[in-house]
Amino acid sequence: MTSQNQLFETLNPPQRLLMGPGPINAYPRVHQAISQSLIGQYDPVMTGYMNQVQALYRGVFETQNQQTMLIDGTARAGIEAVLVSVLKPGDKVLVPVIGRFGHLLCEIAQRVGAEVRTIDIPWGEVCPPEKVEAEVKAFQPKLLATVQGDTSTTMNQPLEALGEICHRHGVLFYCDATASIAGNELKADAWHLDAVSAGLQKCLGGPSGSAPVTLSDRCAALINQRKHVEAGIRAAHHIQGAEAMIQSNYFDLAMVMDYWGPERLNHHTEATSMLYAARECARIYLEEGAEQVIARHRQAGGAMAAGLQAMGLSLFGDQQHRMNNVVGVSIPGEVDGDTVRLELLNRFGIEIGTSFGPLHGKIWRIGTMGYNARQECVLTTLAALEAMLLKHKARIEPGVAVTAAMEYFG
Ligand SMILES: Cc1ncc(COP(=O)(O)O)c(C=O)c1O
Repeated sequence: MTSQNQLFETLNPPQRLLMGPGPINAYPRVHQAISQSLIGQYDPVMTGYMNQVQALYRGVFETQNQQTMLIDGTARAGIEAVLVSVLKPGDKVLVPVIGRFGHLLCEIAQRVGAEVRTIDIPWGEVCPPEKVEAEVKAFQPKLLATVQGDTSTTMNQPLEALGEICHRHGVLFYCDATASIAGNELKADAWHLDAVSAGLQKCLGGPSGSAPVTLSDRCAALINQRKHVEAGIRAAHHIQGAEAMIQSNYFDLAMVMDYWGPERLNHHTEATSMLYAARECARIYLEEGAEQVIARHRQAGGAMAAGLQAMGLSLFGDQQHRMNNVVGVSIPGEVDGDTVRLELLNRFGIEIGTSFGPLHGKIWRIGTMGYNARQECVLTTLAALEAMLLKHKARIEPGVAVTAAMEYFG
């Protein structure tokens, strides 16, 4: 029970080292950005920031797409906005399911009333392009919906070949890059992606609550065929789309595009503090340089994997296709995974991730993302985990994990 006194205590969350699959500790500069003054949504300074955010995220997504903006909400809001705006009832969508978030795409598409076909891949593997091409030919979907990095399994789905297939067959290509963007290569234009959505709370190093999205011109044109300007703000020059209205108001990307467009046609009230955060995340990423940031994630993830293996633990899934930023590691049979995680949190203030569905109780997921893709975070986590495993009498090789990770860093 919360006591009356607790209600009025000053907010004072504990300092944690967040080494799970996200959220992670935000870059200190992002915290500073969030605490800046609020301004009105039509203040020219604010609309200027909105334009800057669009330009910065074109850099992050590696795209020239005019329609690049933020959806106010967590990463799931970005996914839902794309799917509800692109898909109409009866439209065909093909989803390679490599983990939990593939199932999520199916569920959202089903809610829209789309006809969903899946390619079911065992957890720990990625979908071969041949399977996608065969299903594209057989099913002739309007949209191929994929997850790049599925945190539930730690796998990173290669997208370039899928983009080629979609391009050749005239299929729209969408990807949820929430967990992979900024830690793994993603080239929206070069890989023929028509829509990409993301979140801040993984390798971009921010809090959750803003979902950057980008839409190709053809995808934006298709969505605009369903444009219906809200009655209370409609003017004579507004042309309504010829097709059925998008079923969600909040996630109506035709409306959101108008809000971010030159007319600034009012929709929601842009979440100012989250926009500041998103702007800072992109600025940090592009300042350090995409290649350098991705290499930093590759190195930190590789060092974590090397340390865990040196302890004698086995890694989960096809290591050729592991995301740079999350490692899945089998929980030794001698210990209870949740007990170890909780003690790690209580004694060291370090959080690592549990897992879902068929992997629950079998693997922990350890992330090295954004601000935490650093040597000190990796070494501290390995040292603490080793101590907890020894305390719980796991049969591991003591005293070698940190050294192996240090050697990996060189
Ligand atoms: C691949 C992927 N997609 C979507 C999400 C959902 O993000 P959010 O919780 O910000 O809505 C997550 C979160 O872990 C994720 O890893």
